[in-house]
Amino acid sequence: MIRPILVTGAAGFIGFHTSLRLLEQGGEVVGIDNLNDYYDVSLKQARLAKLQEFDKFKFVKLDISDKTAMEKLWAEHGDFLEVIHLAAQAGVRYSLKNPYSYITSNCMGHLTVMEMCRHTKDFKHLVYASSSSVYGGNKKLPYSVEDSVDQPLSLYAATKRSDELMSHTYAHLYNIAQTGLRFFTVYGPWGRPDMALFIFTKAICEGKSIPIFNDGNMKRDFTYVDDIVSGILGALKNPPALRIDGKGDVPNRILNIGNNRSENLMDFVKVIEDALGKKAELELLPMQDGDVPETYADIEETTRIAGYNARTTIHEGIPKFIAWYKEYYNIS
Ligand SMILES: NC(=O)c1ccc[n+]([C@@H]2O[C@H](COP(=O)([O-])OP(=O)(O)OC[C@H]3O[C@@H](n4cnc5c(N)ncnc54)[C@H](O)[C@@H]3O)[C@@H](O)[C@H]2O)c1
Repeated sequence: MIRPILVTGAAGFIGFHTSLRLLEQGGEVVGIDNLNDYYDVSLKQARLAKLQEFDKFKFVKLDISDKTAMEKLWAEHGDFLEVIHLAAQAGVRYSLKNPYSYITSNCMGHLTVMEMCRHTKDFKHLVYASSSSVYGGNKKLPYSVEDSVDQPLSLYAATKRSDELMSHTYAHLYNIAQTGLRFFTVYGPWGRPDMALFIFTKAICEGKSIPIFNDGNMKRDFTYVDDIVSGILGALKNPPALRIDGKGDVPNRILNIGNNRSENLMDFVKVIEDALGKKAELELLPMQDGDVPETYADIEETTRIAGYNARTTIHEGIPKFIAWYKEYYNIS
């Protein structure tokens, strides 16, 4: 019997796209999310409404840090053998304002998800979201999973690194196959209102200025969401080998999912301007606390293990976001 795949954070940006791809491929998905109001809840509901057009999609509103609710979910839907865990309190800057939500969702939530997997017979694979922010202020580029990541610059990054460490421990103790994916600045249609592409597009459309931090001296490895989804599903199909009789490597690995092409922030702005046919008014600001000037992913291992290939350039991806934005918000 084929069991449904559990996607946590299914109403979120990446969870929505991942669920949609699985459903379009004929898969069965149970999506969970607490629909918190970190950003516009109606956007989360609109994403869910699209997923609910598929008979094979079921949604359950719950908080992943609520152990009782998670046990009830497993009991009602049967054991999940594959879990894509994307629910989290995201955002580097908000962790300066609301630190507790990060510990609850990202640490307690991650533990609860792992506990459920550990008690599932024949469990196959837990793929979970980490973040490029774990690289902190590392100077060596591109960022490699071999690099030291012991000096996170934000609480968000610290919780994501904690997830990776907890996952290593659970894989070691209980022989659970796990893959942590360090995503690098994801963008695309149905994207997050707290991220640069959305903020810039909205401001330019409304004739307002856009905040440019570090006087524009920022580089990001922007990754188109469809490429991210291919990476997630590629990783899911290729779990690390389990130990046999206690022998072999700990079945836990970490992969970068980026674009391997770091873009200058001002070039990024230019592509948005071109796609909108409108010039941006710039507000030059200093570097923000907790932020880093450049991210750039080494993706060699991700390509080898998950067949991952970042295909989409910002010249292709940004116009797709702008087209969605204009349609969704009814802008001519
Ligand atoms: N988007 C990016 O650029 C990026 C980069 C690095 C890492 N990530 C990570 O990828 C994952 C998905 O990110 P996203 O961009 O889709 O963010 P998102 O905020 O759009 O999605 C996360 C979803 O999780 C839900 N959620 C949060 N806490 C929850 C809880 N305690 N219980 C149940 N649901 C909860 C939220 O309501 C939201 O819908 C997150 O783990 C994030 O930290 C994203």
